[in-house]
Amino acid sequence: MNSYSNHSLADILGDRRRRLAEIFAAPVILWSGRRSPRNFAANTFPFRASSHFLYFAGLSLENAAICLEAGQLTLFIDDPSPSYTLWHGETLSKEDIAQNIGADAVFPMAELPAHLAGVATIPVQDAATWTEQTQLLDRWVLPERPLEGIDLELAKAIISLRLVHDASALAELRKAAAVTVAAHKAGMATTMNAKTEADIRAAMESVMIAENMSCAYASIVTTHGEVLHNDRYYNTLKPGDLILADVGAETATGWASDVTRTWAVTGKFSSTQRDIYDIVLAAHDACIAKVYPGVEYRDLHFLAATTIAEGLVNLGILHGNAEDLVEKDVHALFFPHGVGHLLGLDVHDMEDLGDLAGYEPGRTRSDRFGLGYLRLDRPLRPGMLVTIEPGFYQVPAILNNSEVRTAYRDAVNWERLAQFADVRGIRIEDDVLVMDTGSEVLTGDLPTKAEDIEQ
Ligand code: GLY
Ligand code: MN
Ligand code: MN
Repeated sequence: MNSYSNHSLADILGDRRRRLAEIFAAPVILWSGRRSPRNFAANTFPFRASSHFLYFAGLSLENAAICLEAGQLTLFIDDPSPSYTLWHGETLSKEDIAQNIGADAVFPMAELPAHLAGVATIPVQDAATWTEQTQLLDRWVLPERPLEGIDLELAKAIISLRLVHDASALAELRKAAAVTVAAHKAGMATTMNAKTEADIRAAMESVMIAENMSCAYASIVTTHGEVLHNDRYYNTLKPGDLILADVGAETATGWASDVTRTWAVTGKFSSTQRDIYDIVLAAHDACIAKVYPGVEYRDLHFLAATTIAEGLVNLGILHGNAEDLVEKDVHALFFPHGVGHLLGLDVHDMEDLGDLAGYEPGRTRSDRFGLGYLRLDRPLRPGMLVTIEPGFYQVPAILNNSEVRTAYRDAVNWERLAQFADVRGIRIEDDVLVMDTGSEVLTGDLPTKAEDIEQ
């Protein structure tokens, strides 16, 4: 099943199109994108359609485009060539695909140039497609280039829909969350018999693959959690190591989950690991308890930072008052990233649009050390899905930097910190849905308490 299972796909997409038409009048063309060659043309990276296309087309169709205008849907796609069918098997005809997604008309791709007058679009990430978009529309349509004019207005309209998940999206997000929880449980269970990080990764990803899901991003399964996006899995597991696993499933329709747990290779945290783990968990729990409509996400980031700073003061690692330390960005020595981000079709939802989705209009990213990686700065609204993911890391590039050590000389007790050398990286991350009166942790079936993780 590679389609939504709760309603007819055509109904779900029709509803999304109508909501777009209420707020955006011009015709829209969204391209799906193409496969990218891996090492030669016939050996490609797995194809995954652009998220904006997926939102309105529902299916990950290759080299296709849709036109949305006044609630109507036109599909542009070619029937597969005989050689495609020879190697990849029969696929649906374009007429059958059009019927499945509720398209009002369907044309081959060669007809697309005749339908481009006055259209708005969003750049697709692969170069072959954004080059085609640029050529056909005779204006720059480039992923890194700030959007302008009608394209910018379209992006804002799509953001306003995708920020708040509809019931069909939520059903998919719950599926991704459930499989991700099962993957993490499998990872924990296999650790006793695992020899390397790769063994644990294999156990986790196999749960997702067996559900015909894929990874929403490159899995992080590492004994070096201080490498924030570590994508190597060669280390052997040693007693005393922590495993940080940040692994999330993506459903066949493209909806993501994003979860991190940290556990001990031996099954039992050392006392120093447990001390820090409990601080990160206190920050995680404090933030989730404050997820309500109207709450500023940036305030959750500061709450996490303050909770971590306070915990480190209590352990004697930091000197001073937690609020003052956060004011001076001291927390960022150990918690250098933001407390989380939007989650949806993309693991960092709509980050292809820069900060347009993550930041409330009129706000821009700070260049403060403790705020520069904050990916979300909006008041929360019911139906938004966000991650809450505080962490503690000992990053050599930060902590061994002589300028940093001088600047924070008085704030850190470096001798005391040295006693926590067996804590390289801890993160606890869950997917939290904003509800009318609080929140629901979609990944809440996965334990977070140290004793439960040890079980
Ligand atoms: N898995 C990437 C992140 O947590 O943002
Ligand atoms: Mn995340
Ligand atoms: Mn993550």
